[in-house]
Amino acid sequence: MNAPTATLALRVVEARELNPLIRMLRLRADDGRALPGFAAGAHIRVQVSLTDGGTDWRHYSLVNFDTARNATNAPTEYVIAVRKEAEGRGGSRFMHERLKEGDTLAIEPPKNDFPLHTGPGGSVLVAGGIGVTPLATMAARRRAEEAPVRMHYAGRSRDLMAFLPELEALLGPDLHVHADAEAGAPLDIDALLDNVPAGDRLYVCGPKVMLDAVLARTQVRGWTHDRVHFELFTEPVVEAGDQPFEVELAQSGQRFTVAADQSILDCLIDNGCDPMFDCKRGECGVCAVPVIEGEIDHRDYVLTAREKAEGNVMQICISRAKGARLVLDL
Ligand code: FES
Repeated sequence: MNAPTATLALRVVEARELNPLIRMLRLRADDGRALPGFAAGAHIRVQVSLTDGGTDWRHYSLVNFDTARNATNAPTEYVIAVRKEAEGRGGSRFMHERLKEGDTLAIEPPKNDFPLHTGPGGSVLVAGGIGVTPLATMAARRRAEEAPVRMHYAGRSRDLMAFLPELEALLGPDLHVHADAEAGAPLDIDALLDNVPAGDRLYVCGPKVMLDAVLARTQVRGWTHDRVHFELFTEPVVEAGDQPFEVELAQSGQRFTVAADQSILDCLIDNGCDPMFDCKRGECGVCAVPVIEGEIDHRDYVLTAREKAEGNVMQICISRAKGARLVLDL
């Protein structure tokens, strides 16, 4: 069972389109009271209505550009930015199309799975698209600490990249913008890594393809895990060729079909089960389940290469079956 978390009811006091893909929302309590504080990298979970009439929760990183040291200790508002996803179950479309200024949202208080480390050394922030949100808050925090910080911000084109004016004002020459449309190529990860000083830490947030590329290149270079911190900004995406498969729960004997565009976790929830989970992005490790039979298509960022090769456990929020069937020890 997942322990219930107290929710807050916050009013949308401003909803503004930053560009055709990204909508910024400012949320406040009706009485203007101070909200729970947060550290750079934190997110809130927001309850959204889905197109099928159900509800679900989505994570959104908290955005702050204020460089006062105590700016996020007892804030009176939370700022989030939401990218509209054409695919998926309608959570982002709800945030873009149905939610209006004046509406109330149920949210869970801030939680931080992507903490910024203090101490010596600089921070190199690598943002892809809307993945800029937690990194913008980190940049403000590092500026507040007068600590070295640099950001590489990549996107398709400048007009689709949120918060560019704020970041330019905050970081000046320490902001490096890469627009694919101008460069004619994606961000050169190796060139970027070549210029990261030995004592600096890397913080990466962006789409899976960027994350995978950065992780692969840092591994090849022998970077230790404690130098590379990351967060995936999208819900897990369906990959080309994904097929439906069957899951059997060994303890109860129940069998379900996981649709091609559905995770095992969502399939179990839809069928009245109560599995443990948190991030739903293959990052936190909470949803690990022992596997008794079947070959696993591992897609998480938690298990080690050895654990993946052994094939005895999987993260059911993101990983799938390679074959037609999996038997889980549930
Ligand atoms: S819920 Fe976090 S790894 Fe699956």
